[in-house]
Amino acid sequence: MNTHAQIVSQMRLLITTLKRHNHAYYVLDNPTITDGEYDSLRQALVKLETDFPQLKQADSPTDAIGGEPLPFFTQITHDVPMLSLGNVFDKDDMANFIRRVNDRLDDKNKNPQFEMELKLDGLAVSLKYRHGVFAQAVTRGDGQVGEDITHNVRTIRNLPLVLPDCMHIELMEVRGEVLMPKAGFLRLNKEQQMRGEKTFANPRNAAAGSLRQLDSNVAATRPLAFYGYSVNQGLPNDITTQSGAMSFLQSQGFEVSPFKVVVDLGEIDEFYRATIDERDELPFEIDGMVVKVNSLQLQNDLGFLSREPRWATAYKFPATTATTRLLDVEWQVGRTGQLTPVGKLDPVNVGGVTVSNVTLHNFGEIGRLGLMIGDVVSVHRAGDVIPKVSGVMMQLRDETVRPISLPTVCPVCSSPVVLPEGEALARCMGGLVCQAQAQEALKHFVSRKAMDIDGLGSQWLIKFFEMGLIKTVADIYRLADKTEILQNLEGLGEKSVANMLLAIEKSKATSLPRFIFALGIRGVGESTALNLAKHFGQFDKLQTSSVDELLKVPDIGEITAQNIHEFFNAQHNINIINDLINLGVHWQAVVKDTNAAVLDGQTWVVTGTLSLMGRDEAKAHLQGLGAKVSGSVSAKTTALLAGEKAGSKLDKAHSLGVKVVLEDEFLALLAEHGRQI
Ligand code: IVH
Repeated sequence: MNTHAQIVSQMRLLITTLKRHNHAYYVLDNPTITDGEYDSLRQALVKLETDFPQLKQADSPTDAIGGEPLPFFTQITHDVPMLSLGNVFDKDDMANFIRRVNDRLDDKNKNPQFEMELKLDGLAVSLKYRHGVFAQAVTRGDGQVGEDITHNVRTIRNLPLVLPDCMHIELMEVRGEVLMPKAGFLRLNKEQQMRGEKTFANPRNAAAGSLRQLDSNVAATRPLAFYGYSVNQGLPNDITTQSGAMSFLQSQGFEVSPFKVVVDLGEIDEFYRATIDERDELPFEIDGMVVKVNSLQLQNDLGFLSREPRWATAYKFPATTATTRLLDVEWQVGRTGQLTPVGKLDPVNVGGVTVSNVTLHNFGEIGRLGLMIGDVVSVHRAGDVIPKVSGVMMQLRDETVRPISLPTVCPVCSSPVVLPEGEALARCMGGLVCQAQAQEALKHFVSRKAMDIDGLGSQWLIKFFEMGLIKTVADIYRLADKTEILQNLEGLGEKSVANMLLAIEKSKATSLPRFIFALGIRGVGESTALNLAKHFGQFDKLQTSSVDELLKVPDIGEITAQNIHEFFNAQHNINIINDLINLGVHWQAVVKDTNAAVLDGQTWVVTGTLSLMGRDEAKAHLQGLGAKVSGSVSAKTTALLAGEKAGSKLDKAHSLGVKVVLEDEFLALLAEHGRQI
């Protein structure tokens, strides 16, 4: 029997594990477990919380999923106004700032320490914690009055909801920045694009858009993070510096930006330059640094001038926007035939990087910008986010400009180009006849998340394609018949060919989700492939599915369902799939998702010795089918799985009238629900 203390410790373990995985997924963009594994951990916690609501932990991440949408945002007046910072752009201005600070300080306080932080490019928010428990989050608004966004901020994965050492502090106000890390931003935009929804111009806009939602379910899916930078009320008295406040925030579980105590202009400039060098490697965007007088007492003495503190300033980075001329537009053909316009620019330096090509995304974007060839454009590059044209200088347009027209035929294969009514994406209709599409499809097929043939790099793949050794993806598995030709190619010897063929051979053993993803069906990314595999369990069921059936799969809408259906009904695809299977590509059966919940709500107990598996394995199967497995039989037990030499538990089950399941019956249950033993 589990004591309450044991339940709490199970809950704590699950909470820390989930938080670690949340951080890996949302902040580092480097998940270490699958979504399925994550869900089962989360489910385990939900189950404990449902069974023992009185033991639920205040910082449980299961709360992080939003509740009912709010009807409107409530306006909240800040206890202390949220002001802004003055700016300096170079070392001379910085020297002037230091001089102004010194001019106002008494002799004994002159040449104070400064504390430097990164200037995070997100949105300022004020958080309130009552007795150490997160209570409220408010936007900056106009500095005096902001909006209550508690429901959204509560969903932020790295936000501590309980501060371990602040239970005795009636009210604490923490300020900081909500931002979207770069990796998460790129992933979100990709997902938005796949779903046909609007993409965001930069991480800051994406963070703002996420916080501006009345429905916290939206924010809950967004990769937001909070970084603290000040404690404006309730800071423990023994903390007397800004650097101390930052360390305190860290000790309470807050993420803070890297910070440093510096003593003069030389040190300030050194940290500033070092940060510029590292800027692209940071997980989030910054637009400069903030230099603050370190002593909180001196900050107080220096005070504010109108709406800016005299004790701090922003040391901004050089601009990341530049202007240049658009010389031409070329069209690139992607894997599924989409035509992407690429702007050829008069090369220009943008924040230290020379930019001569810039993606214009799609034909719709050209219309939105009103762009013409010969226009002077502003090019923006933020961190390592790819450069983009952010605007057209209409006032500089002259009569030499010419319109950008969508090609009527594909620049690669001359097949017709189609732009569906109301859509922004034009496509080449050549399918695999189009060399560009065929090559991209091959590259996709061998890529890491698809068949993962890392021994066959794209350069060789394209070379083999150009030589006619490979026409379709199935031909990759026929390369073994062409060993001699391969060995005689310059740059490929006996050994490298053997390695390549071994990698190809190894890739034949794959998984169903990978295989589905590798086929490169339009709209079927990695997660959709996984959903399809889970839903259908077997490939032939997917192949013969109707559009209606496809629509039942999570995240699949009309267009993707149609695409999938058409893909599996096109004869050339059927041939390639048959070839792949005949050439030995195979995968393990997938347990159908619908089975996961067959024992949902049931409590099982396992006892005695099973002949075909250990008790732990039996337990895992039962949990996999949705059952809870308990250690002791009670009136609430649904069934007792009894192996050989079952003892007192079997007697108890009999006396309580609990159903007893023997091994044969159990194996039949597993087989029925597709579980492999
Ligand atoms: S301290 C009195 N520290 O910059 C204002 N602000 O221009 C004290 N910001 O609205 C602000 N990173 O959103 C501070 N490390 C940092 C910051 C930071 C970003 C933003 C903040 C504020 C704006 C002021």
